[in-house]
Amino acid sequence: MLSNFHGMNWSPFLGLVLFLAHASVAAQYTFHADVAPIIYTHCTQCHRQGEIGPMPFTTYEEVSAYGNFIVYVTASGYMPPWTPDHNYSSLRGERFLTEEEKAVLSEWVASGMSEGNPADNPGVPSFPEGSQIGEPDLVLSMPEPFVHQGNMMDQYQVFVIPTGVTQSTEVQAIEVRPGNNAVDHHALIAYTNNPSTISQAQSLDAADPAPGYESFGDYGVDVDEFLFGGWVPGTPPIQFPSTIGHVMEPGSHLLLQMHYGPSPIEETDQTEINIFFADAPIQREVETMIVGPQFLDTPFIIPPDQITTFHASVEIDEDVSLVSITPHCHLLGKSWEVFARSSDAVDTIPLISIPSWDFNWQGLFTFPQLVHIPGGYVVEAFCTYDNTSDNPINPNDPPEWMTWGEFTTDEMYVLFLQGVPYMAGDEDIAMSVPDRNTMMTYVRDNLYPAWPNPASSEQSIQVGFHLAQAGRTTLSLHDLNGREVRRFLDGELRGQGYHLESMGVQGLAKGTYVYRLVTPSGEVRAGQLQLMAP
Ligand code: HEC
Repeated sequence: MLSNFHGMNWSPFLGLVLFLAHASVAAQYTFHADVAPIIYTHCTQCHRQGEIGPMPFTTYEEVSAYGNFIVYVTASGYMPPWTPDHNYSSLRGERFLTEEEKAVLSEWVASGMSEGNPADNPGVPSFPEGSQIGEPDLVLSMPEPFVHQGNMMDQYQVFVIPTGVTQSTEVQAIEVRPGNNAVDHHALIAYTNNPSTISQAQSLDAADPAPGYESFGDYGVDVDEFLFGGWVPGTPPIQFPSTIGHVMEPGSHLLLQMHYGPSPIEETDQTEINIFFADAPIQREVETMIVGPQFLDTPFIIPPDQITTFHASVEIDEDVSLVSITPHCHLLGKSWEVFARSSDAVDTIPLISIPSWDFNWQGLFTFPQLVHIPGGYVVEAFCTYDNTSDNPINPNDPPEWMTWGEFTTDEMYVLFLQGVPYMAGDEDIAMSVPDRNTMMTYVRDNLYPAWPNPASSEQSIQVGFHLAQAGRTTLSLHDLNGREVRRFLDGELRGQGYHLESMGVQGLAKGTYVYRLVTPSGEVRAGQLQLMAP
């Protein structure tokens, strides 16, 4: 509308009007009418029972307890977590707050967090258990539970899972159901129907005393399809449009690579994969193109004390329709930008920009619509690495020469592009997005990180947990030798649901401690707490 007023500068006026309108309603923001809809849409998916967010945000009490903190994490863009720049390209399930939504939160907090009328509350979305997208046709599970050691180390373990299908089976959607949110960090699924790959994987499995076998960077064997499926916290499951998908053959196997995050105590996981068969015959099978270091202009060697950008160009031979894009690097990664351009560089198609790469929030990003890349176009992929001591997670201090390798302390440059051969009309095919109101939930005991952490021994430290059932609960603090130094709950009765407890740590020496929860069902959960000098 404004563009009709050519040549006139309306912005000072408009700004004033908006400001007045804003100021007059600010005092009236209430939790139930204004704040709850924002929180339920953007936060509760992770911040609720059994999910990875450290505290639940479902009620007025829970949200107002963190008021200032919520303003801080939303204003700074830290929450909701989403690394790609949403102004650069659109990706499915993207999470961000508009400036208006951020302003509602901050003004609500500044004006004293009024609760308002519960009748205005839209209601906490119901989060059914088991699947976000319906009743799976096949559930494949890790053959046996895996015990992740309580040694504060990352673990990458690959599990060999027979598909068990007896005939050629067409697959439309793949959903990972993480078995233990306390440690499950990401999952990658490969597909193979090659007997020698399968027997290689089986012998690796047999050689490793634990279930599965250890393999950090990839699956340790050559697979037919590298990205059959995948999961990182908070991403919607992969659902292909009708007539596009994967095929599983009799005798085929899936390799599930689980990344388990550091944990101070043993944790057990048995992740499951929901498979949804195709409703209509699959006409185009999804293929993965891997842009690795062989496409780089320069050898993949990262000098120390320097910020270095690597660039790959790959020409696309035949028209393709892209389904997903997954950039991958390790701890030195700083940013990614990927676009496709016509050979004369006149037309560009932005694909993804990640201005601040975050190793902990890597994703398998799908496009809301299939993206058509004409044959002859060139994909340009830039990744910048910060190998200076300013990078707080640089694995080397002082920085060292870095190159390709499988370990977290090595680096990688890989871009996975998934797609199908282009067909006219593909641009109009939308990928379905699960309703945010039907995201998955896990009803089980959970312990959330203590906060603040690190803390000084003078501070009151809070720790939240969720109990699947009511009963006697014990919360204690131990030193690194396992000696108990404080007991906050001593077999006291606690109800089913959420609890927030304070841990008083006055008088304790600075150092590392472990807080430990024994739940009514006998499960033990623990986390690490750093105490600084007061
Ligand atoms: C995709 C899952 C996800 C979503 C969506 C999400 N969070 Fe979080 N949130 C997390 C995780 C995981 C953590 C703990 C790890 C961390 O701090 O990075 C966290 C931490 C927090 C913290 C504590 C920060 C700290 O460092 O202790 C606050 C406050 C918070 N989130 C608020 C929000 C708000 C407000 C929203 C919605 C606007 C939101 N989160 C959306 C997953 C999520």
